[in-house]
Amino acid sequence: MRLENISPKKNRNIKLSNQIDMKRIPEHVAIIMDGNGRWASKRGFPRSYGHNQGVNVLKEIIKVSKNLGCKVLTVYAFSTENWSRPNKEVDFLINLFEKVLKKEIDEIHQESIKIKFIGDILPFSKNLKSVLNSSEALTRNNKSFTLNVCVNYGGRQEIVKVAQEIAKKSVSGEIKPSEVNEELINSELLTQGVKDPDLLIRTSGEKRISNFLLWQLAYSEIYISEVLWPDFDESEFFKAIIDYQSRNRRFGGIESLANDSLKDSCCST
Ligand code: IPE
Ligand code: IPE
Ligand code: MG
Repeated sequence: MRLENISPKKNRNIKLSNQIDMKRIPEHVAIIMDGNGRWASKRGFPRSYGHNQGVNVLKEIIKVSKNLGCKVLTVYAFSTENWSRPNKEVDFLINLFEKVLKKEIDEIHQESIKIKFIGDILPFSKNLKSVLNSSEALTRNNKSFTLNVCVNYGGRQEIVKVAQEIAKKSVSGEIKPSEVNEELINSELLTQGVKDPDLLIRTSGEKRISNFLLWQLAYSEIYISEVLWPDFDESEFFKAIIDYQSRNRRFGGIESLANDSLKDSCCST
């Protein structure tokens, strides 16, 4: 293709993608998709308009992250605290999940994406529960990529449930208190079997976790994007990946054990 035929946006994305080290792609990316309401209000539209636009962005980011080589994408779609919004907005969001899922599930399946819903789906309508369950069942054996959608999810509620399950097992004598360890807690979490996120992205500039994956984010790298979710796109995602790759993940250790001068610097007598 002649260079002058490439749009400025495409050109920018090519430049950004050239900065990405394909050997160090985060396996699991989690996203707090925030800012839909503000995006719509700024344009004089109802908040629902921002939620609709947010769906298109999610579709793009699923493609982009999968093409880049990420294996798992976990998105926060509805928190346990979001029920406190006006009924009209809550109803809109819940109807939107059902509508979007029905429309997109065949393509999700064709793309060999496994979809999972993380959270308490009990309060949802019979119809929505059945759409969520059938989507999970249809895509259960897909291997290319996993999309976890957190709906009616709260990190504290998840930990409370884990504590209740462990307490039950302890009372029944199935386990001893001394056998409670990280592995057991991991196996009781809603995310059991899923590697912890390597990278957490939150859009809209907010610098908080808002009850998302409290246990699982212990050592995730955090990237705050100032962009509102409906404006987030491939280039913003690439920027998050480039920033992630500039980090030194120490997990409590020191910078580089391979570097002998560093290893010895604190301990030489
Ligand atoms: C995120 O956008 C979507 C959900 C929480 C469902 P918001 O609706 O929180 O938008 P802002 O943060 O009010 O702009
Ligand atoms: C977090 O965003 C929840 C989702 C993105 C689904 P909120 O907009 O609900 O979080 P707060 O209220 O700003 O903390
Ligand atoms: Mg918000």
